[in-house]
Amino acid sequence: MSEASGTPGADAAGAETESTGATGAADAAEAPPGPGFGNYQNDIYLNGLDDRLPPFTTDLTLLGSSAREHLDPGAFGYVAGAAGSGATHRANRAAFERHRLVPRMLRGPGRRDLSTTVLGTRIPAPVMLAPVGVQSIIHPDGELATARAAASVGIPMVLSTASSHTIEQVAEAHGAGNPRWFQLYWPNDDDVCVSILDRARKAGFTTLVVTLDTWTLAWRPQDLDQSYLPFIRGIGTAIPFSDPAFRAGLEKSPEDELIPAVLRWVPMFTGTDHSWDQLPFLREHWDGPIVLKGVLHPDDARRAADASMDGIVVSNHGGRQVDGAIAALDALPPIVEAVGDRLEVLFDSGVRTGSDVLKALALGARSVLVGRPFAYGLAHGGEEGVLHVLRSLLADLDLTLGLSGHRSPADLSPDSLQSGT
Ligand SMILES: Cc1cc2nc3c(=O)[nH]c(=O)nc-3n(C[C@H](O)[C@H](O)[C@H](O)COP(=O)(O)O)c2cc1C
Repeated sequence: MSEASGTPGADAAGAETESTGATGAADAAEAPPGPGFGNYQNDIYLNGLDDRLPPFTTDLTLLGSSAREHLDPGAFGYVAGAAGSGATHRANRAAFERHRLVPRMLRGPGRRDLSTTVLGTRIPAPVMLAPVGVQSIIHPDGELATARAAASVGIPMVLSTASSHTIEQVAEAHGAGNPRWFQLYWPNDDDVCVSILDRARKAGFTTLVVTLDTWTLAWRPQDLDQSYLPFIRGIGTAIPFSDPAFRAGLEKSPEDELIPAVLRWVPMFTGTDHSWDQLPFLREHWDGPIVLKGVLHPDDARRAADASMDGIVVSNHGGRQVDGAIAALDALPPIVEAVGDRLEVLFDSGVRTGSDVLKALALGARSVLVGRPFAYGLAHGGEEGVLHVLRSLLADLDLTLGLSGHRSPADLSPDSLQSGT
């Protein structure tokens, strides 16, 4: 299924989208036609004529509650849960409420181009799939389903080190030429680290995303109360368990004896807080762009720039690590101010709607990543579920961008917002 079905350039039920204002019409004529993400709205309304409804809700803020019906309690707690009291998770959403778009009129936003370039990769919209581990607890197809859905719409996926399928399997499902990045939980064994990086490069992953904020797991009551941690059950371990350097350190293969393999891997990827002066090691073993994920303080952003990193993700891991931490959106403006001219600043944590994407872009993010929404889509319907979530988010983004009076992500700035307390 392609996002470009429907009639390019037409919004709801064929409404005319070309501006009739003289300046707007001239501008619109110059603009390249967008991929028509907003046309998903047309598809849905037209399907209604045949009594066909969307597979599940188009309101992505509601998916958390409906996903509960599709998942085991342990899996639901793992996906939906947050650190401690959930204060950071709530703060992420509350921060979006404190910013309001200020729509502008008669500016020719009928023809829109959502495409942008992130670290040299041209992508059709400033949205990416965040690294989400252990996806087989959500759906048996896990990361393979996610990869196929991402490929259908052309937006990049970031594969987690904690994948439940191997690097090579995910790359094959994703297909040649589709943009994919690899997220590293930095193992404390250099041989294993280098071997994993090597495999990722060979499988076509172009950019390395190094997650800094999860060097050990936070206190997560939803998981603790159910004594549920996928990794110690051998779930989300497909990458190390298929890795020759990792396997070389085992007496018996993980297939023959699971527990020793688990006990070798878990301390290898958690428990080690690496330091800034170790970053050259990654540079030495990765020849593409490197992005540090989990930056919340301008000084850390400056250190990333000083270390010649190519980008950062301003993120609090969707509220899953430090309870009571600053909302990621509140961390964004001072970080953009500090380093926006030195590296690319990406954003995640709390993005649920097109309007949220626009707010993060207006505050200086180059692109956003979404986590739980697509994971909930996976729970609802595997590949088709992820696709529905992506098409809904992109349609909402496309329409809200245009209705706010903008034609491209580059048009947005803090002036596009009214920001309160
Ligand atoms: C179930 C789940 C698993 C995750 N696994 C990883 C991971 O393996 N690596 C990583 O860097 N971030 C991981 N994250 C964090 C996401 O990459 C992202 O930072 C977060 O989900 C963004 O917040 P959101 O869920 O509000 O969109 C995970 C998040 C969830 C919900």
